[in-house]
Amino acid sequence: MSMHAEQIFPFEEFELSDADFNWFAQKLRSSAGISLNDSKRNLLIGRLRPRIKALGLSTFAEYRSYLQKTPVQHPEWEKFINALTTNKTDWFREPAHFDYLLRKFIPRWRLSGRKHLNVWSVACSSGEEPYTLSILLKHHLFKDESFEILATDIDSTVLSRAKNGVYLRSRIEEQIPKEYRATSFSAGSGDIADWVRVRNVIRENVVFEQMNLLEIPDIYPRDFDVAFCRNVLIYFEQKNIESVVNQIWQHCAIGAMFAVGHSESLQSVKSPWQSAQPSVYLKSDNTTSRASITPFDK
Ligand SMILES: C[S@@+](CC[C@H](N)C(=O)[O-])C[C@H]1O[C@@H](n2cnc3c(N)ncnc32)[C@H](O)[C@@H]1O
Repeated sequence: MSMHAEQIFPFEEFELSDADFNWFAQKLRSSAGISLNDSKRNLLIGRLRPRIKALGLSTFAEYRSYLQKTPVQHPEWEKFINALTTNKTDWFREPAHFDYLLRKFIPRWRLSGRKHLNVWSVACSSGEEPYTLSILLKHHLFKDESFEILATDIDSTVLSRAKNGVYLRSRIEEQIPKEYRATSFSAGSGDIADWVRVRNVIRENVVFEQMNLLEIPDIYPRDFDVAFCRNVLIYFEQKNIESVVNQIWQHCAIGAMFAVGHSESLQSVKSPWQSAQPSVYLKSDNTTSRASITPFDK
């Protein structure tokens, strides 16, 4: 036979040995906190294959030895992590949190006499969560009140999309209540008629920054009034969840509101956060000791 078998059956690139899978999974866990169990094998194969092709390599084993020889500051490590993060997000996702913010939290926050609200969208993905917060606060805060939103994520690709602030018009129409659309987005025309751009008035209060939850900078503000950390802890191991929620607590002001995803149970997580309603917590002033959070996700 004149042709090599792999020229006819180019299957080799799809093969992933247990040793290679475990190595990639371990690297992802130690650098980003994200745990992939064996059921995520195909996900890893599908997500890393474009990296292997982009580098002109042909097997997972070659990609592993490429990374092994590559210093951690090299951009390929960032691309490796970007490829393996799950960035699914939506506008107005899990609306009960926004409802709590507007109806319960802000009226109570006003009683403190403060006029400036500091908000942290902790794993903001492509921007829908912080821009949703910005749209709502622009519409519902009083004229003499102000806010700023720090929006962070580990993934530099989604952060670029978030900063760009351009979204599919159809998603806006499906997910955003009509009363907010015209004042929050400008529509494209001609070739870009399918797209809209977040208006400056909504963007100006949002700052995007790359941040790894395993390395929350000590210099981050310590006075966030609102922190949303939704649909990311689900990928983390217990010890990292505990460390992250406790660090977020340290960076929040007394009285702050903290939201996690609806499917993220903090059951058995040791933390001083006080449960307010399912997946919403408060930093009360009598929580100097680390108490166990009451189970809620049932
Ligand atoms: C499923 S999205 C959730 C986005 C948004 N919070 C929501 O609920 O719609 C999870 C985000 O967490 C980010 N992420 C994963 N590991 C992270 C880490 N170690 N530090 C910061 N962000 C991380 C991912 O890049 C991804 O954009």
